[in-house]
Amino acid sequence: MGQLTGRVAIVTGASDGIGKAIANTFAAEGAKTVFAARSLDKLEALVKAVKDKGGDALAVKTDVTSEADILNLFKQTKDTYGRLDVLVNNAGMASGGATHELTLEQWGKMMDTNLTSVFLCSREALKIMKPQKSGRIIMIGSISSLTPRPNGVMYTTTKHGLEGLTHSICQDYRDDHITASLLRVGSTATNFSKIPREKAVGPEFLMDPMDVAQVVTMMAAQRKEQNIYELTMLPTEQRSFIARG
Ligand SMILES: NC(=O)c1ccc[n+]([C@@H]2O[C@H](COP(=O)([O-])OP(=O)(O)OC[C@H]3O[C@@H](n4cnc5c(N)ncnc54)[C@H](OP(=O)(O)O)[C@@H]3O)[C@@H](O)[C@H]2O)c1
Repeated sequence: MGQLTGRVAIVTGASDGIGKAIANTFAAEGAKTVFAARSLDKLEALVKAVKDKGGDALAVKTDVTSEADILNLFKQTKDTYGRLDVLVNNAGMASGGATHELTLEQWGKMMDTNLTSVFLCSREALKIMKPQKSGRIIMIGSISSLTPRPNGVMYTTTKHGLEGLTHSICQDYRDDHITASLLRVGSTATNFSKIPREKAVGPEFLMDPMDVAQVVTMMAAQRKEQNIYELTMLPTEQRSFIARG
């Protein structure tokens, strides 16, 4: 028996990086896992690999900036598996710029991708979870919500928004036995990283997405009566966070 046997999960941004690691780990732990992202070819290859190992998974092409795509993602999940136990709001992008130079278009793209998408996915998840009287929504946040990087105002603002969504969902859906959790992640070796992992040593160390995925799996697998409300995971010496300069 895996830690998530019998549960149905959606992971957004499952085609690469941390989301891919989470979705693969969930499937290996027995969850019926819905892989969502824009790159359908990558999703289909990942789902095939899960099925080849005897797991159950579904690929749904989803641009999280499209409300129609999100509605389709949750409809396909409900039609295929009949329920939803875990949503991982992972899809995201990073982009920088000084506040006085940013355009409304840049700002809007970041909000749509990292924050409005999470509202929309959480809303659709709650519609399925409320009648079930159970469910868990996990947000992939960032240590940037605690300490911004220089010129990271847009990214930091979106990750702050996840804190508000997490706490509000916990508050508003407590009587429905639905909860939300926030994992603030530090530097991890994905497309976000500017240096290859083998060169990222000491204060530049990058975490392995599979290690992050193990922690998300632990959060997802908690018994219904308890919740890991917030958690911060980062490289021990994370230069941009632990120490100034
Ligand atoms: N890596 C880090 O150091 C780090 C640190 C803190 C937090 N995080 C957070 O971790 C999450 C995952 O990032 P990552 O590092 O794994 O980045 P990544 O390797 O670039 O992966 C991003 C994933 O999000 C998907 N995505 C991007 N825009 C999307 C959209 N509009 N619709 C649907 N999917 C979309 C991408 O898939 P498609 O291109 O196929 O759509 C991809 O699967 C993000 O929320 C990020 O903020 C990362």
